[in-house]
Amino acid sequence: MNKPEKIVAEDLSEAVTYPPEAFISREYAEAEPDKLWSKVWQQAGRVEELKAVGDYITYNICHDSILIVRDTPETLKAYHNVCTHRGRRLVGNNTGGGPKTVAQDKGAHSARGSQMKFGCNYHAWTFDLAGDAIYIPDKEDWQGALDNVCTSLTPVQVDTWGGWIWINMDLDAGPLREWLEPVASLIDPFEFEKMRYRFRYWGIFDCNWKVALEAFLEPYHVQGTHPQLIKYGDFYSFSKAFGFHGQTGFDSKAHRDAGTAVETSVHRAAGDGDPRTTIAQMQAEYWETIGASTSETLVKTAQRLPLELPEGTPAGEVHQYWMKIAKEADAARGVTWPDLSDAQVAAAGLALSIFPNVNFIPGPTFSLAYRVRPWGTDPDKCIFEAVALDRFGEGEEPETEWTFVEQDLDKWPYVIAQDISNMVEMQRGYKSRGFKGNLPNPWQERKVTNLHRGLAHFMGTGHLKRID
Ligand code: FES
Ligand SMILES: [Fe+2]
Repeated sequence: MNKPEKIVAEDLSEAVTYPPEAFISREYAEAEPDKLWSKVWQQAGRVEELKAVGDYITYNICHDSILIVRDTPETLKAYHNVCTHRGRRLVGNNTGGGPKTVAQDKGAHSARGSQMKFGCNYHAWTFDLAGDAIYIPDKEDWQGALDNVCTSLTPVQVDTWGGWIWINMDLDAGPLREWLEPVASLIDPFEFEKMRYRFRYWGIFDCNWKVALEAFLEPYHVQGTHPQLIKYGDFYSFSKAFGFHGQTGFDSKAHRDAGTAVETSVHRAAGDGDPRTTIAQMQAEYWETIGASTSETLVKTAQRLPLELPEGTPAGEVHQYWMKIAKEADAARGVTWPDLSDAQVAAAGLALSIFPNVNFIPGPTFSLAYRVRPWGTDPDKCIFEAVALDRFGEGEEPETEWTFVEQDLDKWPYVIAQDISNMVEMQRGYKSRGFKGNLPNPWQERKVTNLHRGLAHFMGTGHLKRID
């Protein structure tokens, strides 16, 4: 059921529509845990969060909670976070044997800690890192009826890729790597596993999780949502479906007409002006208004371009020089770049999404990643996360925490706030009786269309229809 599908002949090139049901229907939202979330691989954290044996985190999705632990220096285990005795959630946001319990609320993203056994706060049943019940008070009262099968924690599949932890509640689901392809192979050269969190923001937004995710799936919205960026060039983009997953990249109408998409560097020198100053200004503005999707080194070295290169230097040379000095500056602070060819950077494009709810913008020493989840099964609420990864010199990695940021436009980086400003209005608009269905751009928004094709596959409703 949940194997990636082959791309059918240039599918999604036709104009299609789909209804707003996936965003607003309560029935649809309540069906998601059974039909979708319990069947797909989901990004559930970073390996760096589980360094020592006994370190654990929880990952909550709808009404399920997953407990992920480091059981040996080399391996991780994941379990349903529920006591097998009478069903209390085993690890709350601050439990693990103590009397204090805090309900999951906006102040608590997830639980984390380190312990060699997990004691349930209710009747003190206790489980080891292998998930086995090692202490059951008055076990003899059951007169031998209890065995490991009924008392052990219920396992969940867990694996890693790119330094990310992934879980799948479906024990029959195929391997993670197979699920992630071909996106994993496109991202591998960027060596995400060598990056660490620089910041991790999360918020609870008043919109469906798909609305929040889709705000970041295509640059088609730049002229409407981020008009201040247009001065840096054309954000025309291509969009591709890779099975359930998707990709966008910078493009031009000429390429579209030729049926190919090749102009796909994150760091393309955009605009008609002097590329030295355009790059310098764009980088400074990105740093100030996004704070990610580039690195401090790239921003700083870009400021040197107008000073160190003569006027009239062609854009390609400016770009090449910039990469060279950025690499040198990083080397001087103990940060090595991956061995990335231009072809690999071009092949990765601007951003890659993993079905159903993750989107990565990869860079040579950084990545900006979004993950969005439903809030319980409320169709009108979601948990939104924006995470910046960076490469750091040895011992320079910062300790980060999940930082809650209110759904307040002044609190988020400016560009992300511009995206957020659409979300609540989208959720409202989808409820209008005057809305006739989505009309996604067949070239630039296929990533969005493909999300809905994948959702329809799992949910059995909301199928794409051709506009004839
Ligand atoms: S519910 Fe956990 S010990 Fe009783
Ligand atoms: Fe945006």
